[in-house]
Amino acid sequence: MFRTNNCGELRLSNVGQRVTLAGWVQRARKMGGMTFVDIRDRYGITQLVFNQGVNAGLCDLANTLGREYVIQVVGEVAERSNKNANMETGDIEMLVLELTVLNESKTPPFTIEDNTDGGDDIRMKYRYLDLRRNTVRQNLELRHRMAFETRRYLDQLNFMEVETPILIGSTPEGARDFVVPSRMNPGEFYALPQSPQLFKQLLMVSGFDRYFQIAKCFRDEDLRADRQPEFTQIDCELSFVDQEDILEIFEGMVKHLFRFVKNIGFEDTFPRMTWEDAMKYYGSDKPDIRFGMKIVELKEAVSGHNFVVFDSVPYVGGICAAGCAGYTRKQLDELTDFVKRPQIGAKGLVYIRCEADGTFKSSVDKFYAPEDLKQIASTLNAQPGDLILILAGSKRKTQKALCELRLEIGARLGLRNKDVYAPLWVIDFPLFEYDEELGRYFAMHHPFTSPKLEDVPLLDTDPGLVRANAYDMVVNGVELGGGSIRIHNRDLQNRMFELLGFTPEKAEAQFGFLMSAFQYGAPPHGGLAFGLDRFVSLFAGLDSIRDCIAFPKNNSGRDVMMDAPSVLDQSQLDELNLIIDIKEK
Ligand code: AMO
Repeated sequence: MFRTNNCGELRLSNVGQRVTLAGWVQRARKMGGMTFVDIRDRYGITQLVFNQGVNAGLCDLANTLGREYVIQVVGEVAERSNKNANMETGDIEMLVLELTVLNESKTPPFTIEDNTDGGDDIRMKYRYLDLRRNTVRQNLELRHRMAFETRRYLDQLNFMEVETPILIGSTPEGARDFVVPSRMNPGEFYALPQSPQLFKQLLMVSGFDRYFQIAKCFRDEDLRADRQPEFTQIDCELSFVDQEDILEIFEGMVKHLFRFVKNIGFEDTFPRMTWEDAMKYYGSDKPDIRFGMKIVELKEAVSGHNFVVFDSVPYVGGICAAGCAGYTRKQLDELTDFVKRPQIGAKGLVYIRCEADGTFKSSVDKFYAPEDLKQIASTLNAQPGDLILILAGSKRKTQKALCELRLEIGARLGLRNKDVYAPLWVIDFPLFEYDEELGRYFAMHHPFTSPKLEDVPLLDTDPGLVRANAYDMVVNGVELGGGSIRIHNRDLQNRMFELLGFTPEKAEAQFGFLMSAFQYGAPPHGGLAFGLDRFVSLFAGLDSIRDCIAFPKNNSGRDVMMDAPSVLDQSQLDELNLIIDIKEK
């Protein structure tokens, strides 16, 4: 046997046994006539002992070992006199009898330790070494466990995993496509799937009434901490279900993962919040409900005091930061700068300090008498010692700014504890969002999402008010997944395309095969998809989904290890019938 044990499993019960281990040299220390080498593999670290007095040749060989050499050792397990409680194998060591150097290693460009000296770029360039580090490997182990438990849960419920193609035509998730040129069809391109959306709906027409797939998706969009150009979905679709069935089954899946992976049980049903309420109280369709500090609309309470900033705008809203009345001028300036950042875009920040003695101090004392401030404070249910922060402007933009401010204050107050999980369903999304600049409607989810039946008449009169049978699973302010009940009626689907500005020809060209399939007995169906990368990061408490992906892209969408994307050889371009003419960068 190449190895009898792994480097993480030997204990006092193994003392006296002759064992063989194989792994990497974590570190080697020479202390007088003794040499200690830590050998590491995926499972842990074991201390090896070489004694000059017992076998000088072997000890000399051990003294040549460098970091990350690959070795095989045969030896006897012994109890350590100097036990190390910080190591799982810290009660024992191995007295080495034979040592084989299986491979040498160059000195790695950074230390393979939990707290490495390697910066982000260098770790990504040598990702295969980075993956040797415990912290990174543990994230991938977690990912494996979650994918495994997902399959176990869904399999028990008759879901069948079906693979769908990667080289396809455009899918309708709203991002830009990555495209692949076709050699056999000159001038034509495949698109990579933004999700398996169309295929899973076709599988419903085929009668596979419970489908899932742990599927790769590709979206050419601006990257953020929770977005990669290539990511993985737990993609699901079901027939003969209504929204309630779907929420129940997938709430079950989320609870299953919490229970079997995190050992956290949720007894109660997850709360549900309408999209309208999420925007109103949290300024976001993915509210972080680990803490309160809800947004309060103040337009009425603050109007009519000749304060033009509040009087001239359609919306004024505030939050109450408990216990923050002591914020210094500097801290308030910081918050003002925070909300004025271009990504947030507020014009300014108004504050009211509710002093411990029951008086008020504010940045708008000129316009509001103490009685008025008291009135505003009571609208926000503010107590002495609290700080009220107010923003004004257009409704959605100001709500979003208040959301950011709320999250910032929440973080400062330590209310966004990563060990606390607050899941909820956000439901009743609008079917459309209106783009002021382009003067047209877009599907908020995608064009196959079904409107609520009772809202269908509004399609003709006021499409902006139509609610969708769409839902998102949100945990701690992260959109973990989302989906909808689909339209399975050709006429309604055509009406939808029309409202979205598709000509019949364009709809036919892009989705004709789906429309055609719907003529052959499409069952009522619906589904959803979870972002596996986001799910794993949430469980691992990561700040970026990159850390749970084996070989991620950097913020410019590059694989710095492979140096991709890269230019093609002329011969490859010729084969593909492509001429590259790069417009100025
Ligand atoms: P949606 O576009 O909401 O829905 O995507 C579903 C989930 O996928 C994750 N996600 C991402 N994760 C990492 N990087 C990205 N760039 C990225 N984009 C999305 C999110 C999101 O909630 N076909 C529909 C699902 C359906 O209707 O069944 C879809 O793809 O966690």
